[in-house]
Amino acid sequence: MRVAVRAPATTANLGAGFDVFGAALALENLFTIETGREGFRLQGVPVQPDLGRNLFHAALDRTAAELGGQAPKVAVTVDVAVPLRSGLGSSASAICAGVAAAQVLLSKHLAPAAALRIAAELDGHPDNVAACLFGGVTIATDDGLVRRLPAPDLRAIVFYPGTELGTEAARRSLGREVLRADAVFNLGRASLLVYAFALQDYDLLSAACEDRLHEPQRLPALPYAQEAREAALSAGALAMPISGSGPSLLALARPAQADAVALALQAVAARHAPARVLDLAFADRGTEAQALD
Ligand code: HSE
Repeated sequence: MRVAVRAPATTANLGAGFDVFGAALALENLFTIETGREGFRLQGVPVQPDLGRNLFHAALDRTAAELGGQAPKVAVTVDVAVPLRSGLGSSASAICAGVAAAQVLLSKHLAPAAALRIAAELDGHPDNVAACLFGGVTIATDDGLVRRLPAPDLRAIVFYPGTELGTEAARRSLGREVLRADAVFNLGRASLLVYAFALQDYDLLSAACEDRLHEPQRLPALPYAQEAREAALSAGALAMPISGSGPSLLALARPAQADAVALALQAVAARHAPARVLDLAFADRGTEAQALD
């Protein structure tokens, strides 16, 4: 049996929504899974890191067990579109692909809440995996409450500095405690984020994406981040939060300003090879799996 799974790139946090907000992007990793053989191969990357293999198989096995079965041995080929360890949810895509593949391989359906629980346990946070599983803009809590809003009519212009950064390393720069004033600041901003996406009040995003819980600690360590943010905002971007834990940043732009923002970011990237720009749409589609034969 062969199964194909498409799992989108995601951006987490959106500034103030630390560990809670996520959004799916129109860039997908394609996993082709074949029973009766064993293996794991990434196509489109120079090295073969173990991380994706382990996460995919852990998700496959956990989901199969939850469904009361056992996952068969499989060979997996991944056509990689999402840069690894870039802040665009490549780990989440491996996990969500494993969750989705198990359901097709065992011909059993898992409730969305259970799929989210398994994926969030493996990823460590619900934000990327909620967006990857369900698409759109997601709001997900640690204990599994999730709501989804449609993908906004905005462009998502990613500045990727070309360096890798794992989430665990990026979290080490964060303090263990936060000031009450900063928590209140983020509560206000995160509430505005919900309003902005729910009512398509996108002018609010410049205020709503402001953050005091993680960006002030992270931004100074991200290559060219300040330069990219200034260029994007000057060219008309609404906001430019760090994408997940970085090192990428995500410029949010209305369609009318998006080309100018992309050009401005491409000029920054050209000064700092191998930095590059991914000019993307937001995506309503989450992870989808289908049997090929
Ligand atoms: N929200 C996480 C972080 C990244 O900012 O560390 C994605 O799970």
